[in-house]
Amino acid sequence: MIFTSQHLLSVKDISLEAIHSLFAVAEQMRPYANREKVTRVLEGAVLGNMFFEPSTRTRVSFGSAFNLLGGEVRETTGLSNSALAKGESLYDTAQVLSGYSDVIVMRHPEPYSVEQFATGSRVPVINGGDGANEHPTQALLDLFTIKNELSSLGKDIADLRLTLLGDLKHGRTVHSLCHLLSLYKGLKVQLVSPKALALPQKYIDMLTNAGHDVQTGDNLESGLSKANVIYQTRIQEERFSTKEEADQYKGYFRLNKQIYSQHCQPDTVIMHPLPRDSRGNANELDNDLNKEPGLAIFRQTDNGVLVRMALFACILGVENQLAAYERKVNWQVGVR
Ligand code: NCD
Repeated sequence: MIFTSQHLLSVKDISLEAIHSLFAVAEQMRPYANREKVTRVLEGAVLGNMFFEPSTRTRVSFGSAFNLLGGEVRETTGLSNSALAKGESLYDTAQVLSGYSDVIVMRHPEPYSVEQFATGSRVPVINGGDGANEHPTQALLDLFTIKNELSSLGKDIADLRLTLLGDLKHGRTVHSLCHLLSLYKGLKVQLVSPKALALPQKYIDMLTNAGHDVQTGDNLESGLSKANVIYQTRIQEERFSTKEEADQYKGYFRLNKQIYSQHCQPDTVIMHPLPRDSRGNANELDNDLNKEPGLAIFRQTDNGVLVRMALFACILGVENQLAAYERKVNWQVGVR
C-alpha cells in the first residue's frame, strides 16, 4: 500500500489509484466506527496528536480513529503549553516526540511547518492543517463524502457540479480539495467568494489545466442554482491582520432554508468542513437547514473517522489484519 510508513504532508502527490485503495479500506471501517464490532489491531501503538491551533473535530476524530483501532493517544495542545514556546525548533521537538509515538498528527499555524517538523521525525507525520496552506485529510474525507453523496443520488463523480463558497483565499480545506479535484477531468466548478477572498490563481490554474469548466463570481444565488454539491466555508478570521477586516466579510453569504428551497435543486448536497460560524453577524449556514436531507455536514464529520482510521491502518501497515483482531461489542450502542 502506497501510504505505508509514509508521511502525509500534502495531497499533491497522491494518485487516484491510492485514493481508491484508501477509500476501500475506509469502507471496511464502518462496522468498527458504528460500534457493531471492535478491533484491537493497533493495541500497544501510540499516536502523538499535536494541535497548535484550535480544533475540535479534526483533533478528536484523529484520536477517536486511533482509539477505535485499539491504539492509545497522547495529546499536546496549544503552543504556549509546549517547549516550542521556549524556542525549541520544530526539528528538535519532532526528534523527541517521535521517540514516544508510532505516528504523529500535527496542526500548526505556519504554512509548511508540518513539513519542516517531519524532517526531524522518525515516525510518519500526518498534516492536520498548516496555516492557510493545506489540510490533506479533510480533503480526502471531503472527496469521500462527495463520492458517497453522489452515489446515493445515483450519480457519479463525473456528474459533479460543485460550488465552492466563502473564503476561498484562506481556506486550506478548499486548497487541498482543488488538488484532489484536479485528478479528475471535465467537472463543473463554480468559485463564489467576495472578490478580495478569491481562490488564489495557482488553484484556479490547477482546475482549468485539469479541463474543468471553472466559473467565478460573487453572487450567492447564481452560485447555488447550477450546483449539485455546495461546499460552504467559514471566513477564516484568524488569517486576517485585524478582526475588523475579517468582520466585513462575515454574513456576506448566508445560506438558509428559504434561499436553499428557492435556488437549489431539492436534492442539492450541502457540505462544510465545519465549524460553521453560527454567531449572529455571520450565520453562514442556518440551523433551519438542520433537517434538510441534503445537509451532509454531519455525515461528512462521521466520514472523517472512517478515512482517518483507514489512513492509520494503511500508514502502519495493518489494513489487512483488522478482522483478525476483532470481536463483538459488549455494550448497548446509541440512544433509544
Ligand atoms: C477547517 C480548518 O481547520 O481548516 N476545519 C476543520 O479542520 N474541519 C475549516 C475551518 O476552520 O473553517
